[in-house]
Amino acid sequence: MQRLLVLLAVLALALVVFVANTCSQPAPNEPFTIVWNYDTSGYLETCGCSAHQLGGLARRVHQIDKLREQQPLLAIEGAHVVADAGEFQLFKAEAVVNILNIAHYDAMQLGVREAQHGAAGIARLTELAEFPCFSANLEVGGQPWATPSVTVEIAGADVAITGVSQPEAVTFELEDGTGFSDPEAALDSLLPQLRQDADIVILCFEGERTWIRDMISRYETSADLFLAGCRNKATANWDFVPEPPTLNNWDLGRYLGIINIDPAPGGFTVAGTSLALKDELPEAERVVGYLSSRYRPQLKEKFFSAMKTDIEQLYLPPESCWGCHELQYETYAASRHSHALETLEEKNQLYNPDCMPCHVVYDPNMDELAAMNCVVCHSNIDEAHLWDAPKGTTAPPDPPVVSHTYEYCVRCHDELNSTAFKDEWPRYVMQIYHGGNMSTAEEAAERMGIDINEPPSGHVEAEAPAETEPE
Ligand code: HEC
Ligand code: HEC
Ligand code: HEC
Ligand code: HEC
Repeated sequence: MQRLLVLLAVLALALVVFVANTCSQPAPNEPFTIVWNYDTSGYLETCGCSAHQLGGLARRVHQIDKLREQQPLLAIEGAHVVADAGEFQLFKAEAVVNILNIAHYDAMQLGVREAQHGAAGIARLTELAEFPCFSANLEVGGQPWATPSVTVEIAGADVAITGVSQPEAVTFELEDGTGFSDPEAALDSLLPQLRQDADIVILCFEGERTWIRDMISRYETSADLFLAGCRNKATANWDFVPEPPTLNNWDLGRYLGIINIDPAPGGFTVAGTSLALKDELPEAERVVGYLSSRYRPQLKEKFFSAMKTDIEQLYLPPESCWGCHELQYETYAASRHSHALETLEEKNQLYNPDCMPCHVVYDPNMDELAAMNCVVCHSNIDEAHLWDAPKGTTAPPDPPVVSHTYEYCVRCHDELNSTAFKDEWPRYVMQIYHGGNMSTAEEAAERMGIDINEPPSGHVEAEAPAETEPE
């Protein structure tokens, strides 16, 4: 009997609290901040590799710490934490998650680049994360594979976060059937409940711009804030759109998406912006410490234990050409190409899988890295060339040596890493020309079989950065 009374009393109390909460208290009861990023793409730190370099997680976390001092903060990582598949990239994704742990993140979306690592890879990330990882339409073998939504209580409000990826954005096929189910079916069954239970609903989209636009208009009344992860260079922007509240964010983690929720009569207001994480901004010491004392040594260890043969191999060092091609050797030695290894070393990015393909090769004989060199461009030189081509002869080698020229330069000199190449390529050609004493770009180009009036056709448009930057 006594027990029943206690139970009734508890029930009555619960009811009172519940009623009080829904009727008189506005939710949220104080302002709070949401920070969000899409497309960190493995850019853990500023690398100085492109024209307007910004970003890095250490810098981002410093800003988050500062904002958190001012008012309660909800930190959400959008998807695309690394740019590709593979063991190295998964290791990087783990480093991102470690840093998000350090920064006390609340949730992370699992998107296309996370799914690319398959169910086993996703498990490595979700086990490591001290926060829930969500997706309403991630599936493995036809089964839903993630927490569909996350609810966080902040400033007296229940904030529900969910998100979907566009299935068409999947460019890979995995044996375990990791992919994305119909996003509309997933949201149609999920959102009504979230709308009913939560005070604020956040809906994250990952996909192509027009798809995102369509999805936002379809679910306009089902959520209070839309976070749009879209890497279409031409159409994506960082502007916050108030109707309905939408923030777009992407571009290698170089901008921090910041949204302010303020209580207002009858509800709350939403306002947002993107902060460019510029070089002048300080870095969070504990992230810098993690990167130097844990991440980098582990990355190096991983490179030598497992990954070294994944990058292009050096089979003949430049010094072995010197005896017969002194001029070419001297030109190379004076060019930036011979310093491409040092550059990564200076930037502390020696074993970064996102830098190595253009800057360095692996030398299996010395078991170390070497700078991008002669045999990268002359890719079919063999031992026979060294021994059979007698010093001093001028007969063309048989088989002929490949000289990758111009069209090949853009494999590395793409928009992101060599912005000036497209417009100033004659200067570039001239600078590394080593066929003789040519004094003009025209002569050198002709010697290389290049039409001086034609810029390289293979110029790869990198997906970043966009022309406009938020202030
Ligand atoms: C023992 C001498 C010798 C060594 C060592 C040597 N080469 Fe050659 N190489 C020649 C000769 C001889 C020719 C043909 C004449 C010429 O073009 O200079 C030649 C031609 C070439 C050509 C021009 C091919 C063409 O179609 O005109 C390239 C490129 C080349 N070598 C690259 C290399 C590279 C790279 C190395 C070092 C990895 C190297 N060679 C080492 C002797 C050598
Ligand atoms: C395998 C990748 C790769 C290829 C192919 C390549 N480069 Fe480069 N190039 C680099 C890298 C990396 C640097 C920057 C090195 C550094 O400073 O650390 C560079 C730098 C240069 C520079 C110096 C730029 C400056 O402002 O000082 C010139 C010039 C250049 N490359 C010309 C060329 C030309 C011309 C071609 C094609 C014939 C070419 N490169 C092909 C990777 C490449
Ligand atoms: C797609 C090929 C490519 C990748 C990937 C790449 N780079 Fe480069 N990098 C280049 C080229 C080409 C240049 C020369 C640009 C120029 O002068 O036009 C360059 C230049 C640089 C420079 C400027 C060198 C100087 O002193 O002028 C730095 C620093 C650099 N890269 C660092 C990095 C780092 C760090 C990464 C990895 C996060 C990276 N790069 C990834 C191709 C690449
Ligand atoms: C960025 C790419 C690149 C690199 C690096 C490079 N070369 Fe070349 N090389 C070329 C191109 C393109 C040509 C053809 C145009 C010319 O003659 O310069 C060429 C031509 C040559 C020739 C033939 C020259 C002639 O008179 O016909 C030789 C020999 C040669 N390279 C040797 C070397 C050696 C040795 C190294 C390294 C020390 C080296 N190259 C590094 C791109 C490269």
